[in-house]
Amino acid sequence: MRKQSERGAVLLVTDRPTPSETSSVAQELGADAVFLSDLAARRLDGDPSLIVDVDLRDVDIVRQLKAALPPRGAGCRIFLIDTDNRVTSVHANVLGANHLLSKKATVAQMHAALDKHFGISAHVPQDEAVLASICSGVQALDNSFQAMANKIELDNAGVIAACEKIADAVCVDGVCDWLSAVRSHHVGTFQHCMLVTGVVAAFATKTNMPREEVVRMTVAGLLHDIGKSNVPVSILDKPGALTLREMDAIRVHPVAGYNYLVDNSTMDAEILSSVRGHHEYLDGTGYPDNLTASDINEMTRIITVCDVYAALIERRSYKEPKTHAEAVAILHSMAAAGKVEARLVRELDWIMAPGED
Ligand SMILES: [Fe+2]
Ligand SMILES: [Fe+2]
Repeated sequence: MRKQSERGAVLLVTDRPTPSETSSVAQELGADAVFLSDLAARRLDGDPSLIVDVDLRDVDIVRQLKAALPPRGAGCRIFLIDTDNRVTSVHANVLGANHLLSKKATVAQMHAALDKHFGISAHVPQDEAVLASICSGVQALDNSFQAMANKIELDNAGVIAACEKIADAVCVDGVCDWLSAVRSHHVGTFQHCMLVTGVVAAFATKTNMPREEVVRMTVAGLLHDIGKSNVPVSILDKPGALTLREMDAIRVHPVAGYNYLVDNSTMDAEILSSVRGHHEYLDGTGYPDNLTASDINEMTRIITVCDVYAALIERRSYKEPKTHAEAVAILHSMAAAGKVEARLVRELDWIMAPGED
């Protein structure tokens, strides 16, 4: 276990009127227990680590918490969630969760999550523009997922504005810092979608696409998995192998996302086709339409390569991320098998190679 001084202050935030239970957990953690309603009044010095045990199903509580949280810094945010309830994990992600643990988590698991965070993030840059662009991207992602879940119109302008910020941050600060910050501050599907967005933004920038095209590509990256809005989190973020039935539940996401955006957004035809086609392969073995090379446009081919790369470098609780070299080796073998375009893999290899910012 890391020393208290390395972690800084830890607060246990609760909304439950069970002081004795809360204070004994806080004591074991070496944390201060704070009642949610007192959090705003308390002057938070920097970005202390928080273990948040509140009812995230309650929108008023989420709002109250959001208003009381300080700007992101090096602190770790651990949310104790109801793992069967999708809304609680979505809200936790929007509030900047680094780790999601079950409400039944032990104090030892909380310590392990804190240790892991400070082990990983010791060298993560904390540039304000990078963190602000990630925050607006996550907010746009959450709004988009919620809009699809509630069958309401997508906030097209909000998505584009967030993607403009992301494209600027990746362009100025470099993609490596941006990806490190995403992997340090976010988990699960949100981490994946944000990594794809950053990798696509870097690809478009470094291949000298015009600014509007960089933003369009970034929008396609942000929205590519929006169809997962309707897939249960227990399947999406399941550690380990999926059953055939679970795989079927996930495989509907390209068509579900496409159908939603066709009816509820002003996104152009190319973005729509990339949402529907990002799991297609050039040799016709992908899904959902078994398209072959001549039917798959350039934007979709780029999103596919960036999607595979981002999935390989993701940080998950049950596996270490692949290195850049390992990820591109897998992509090169997919190109050799005729599934993705070799030219795009070479470009991605050059763009994402460590030290290329
Ligand atoms: Fe996907
Ligand atoms: Fe994806």
